[in-house]
Amino acid sequence: MGEIILIILLSYLLGSIPFALLVGKIGYGIDIRQHGSGNLGGTNTFRTLGKKAGLIVSAADVLKGTLAASLPVLLDIDLHPFIAGIPAVIGHCYPIFAKFKGGKAVATSGGVLLFAEPLLFLLVLLTFFLTLYISKYVSLSSIVAGIGSVVLSWLLADDLITTYILIGFTLFLVYRHRQNIVRIAKKTEPKVKWI
Ligand code: G3P
Repeated sequence: MGEIILIILLSYLLGSIPFALLVGKIGYGIDIRQHGSGNLGGTNTFRTLGKKAGLIVSAADVLKGTLAASLPVLLDIDLHPFIAGIPAVIGHCYPIFAKFKGGKAVATSGGVLLFAEPLLFLLVLLTFFLTLYISKYVSLSSIVAGIGSVVLSWLLADDLITTYILIGFTLFLVYRHRQNIVRIAKKTEPKVKWI
């Protein structure tokens, strides 16, 4: 039991590292919470600081999810990678190191999926970029990718547990995008220009 609590704690702390805030402040002297959507995530970093910073933050946010999900293997503890990854996603959205105001769960959830179900991750990534190519909305693409992960896992995975967990991830992701959904409906959500 103590080992599981250790993983949950480590995972939450990992997820809490606010890379968007760190890259913005250290690399550019800019607090991205004061710009764009105010979100501490890859999309707002792209929007505010450009491609290089956006890519670094997105990759780091994915990797912290991957690392969190791999903690049971690294520490030789019997725990499902999704269970180890969930606290990192919560940490990313409600980071202890940034006054509990973080990102919207997309990249870090992707990182968890990358470790737990690599093939599913690739298909979900494809769904994301296909939707982005058509719609130009990152937020809509994130939501469609989340829904896609549920459908694809239902079609491909050996057990329904993965599908149930992904339903939970996706409901949370939709909840975190509630303001984006309102903006899409009002046609005020910004579109990306680089795809
Ligand atoms: O992954 C976050 C993205 O889906 C939306 O970010 O900054 O446009 O609210 P943002």
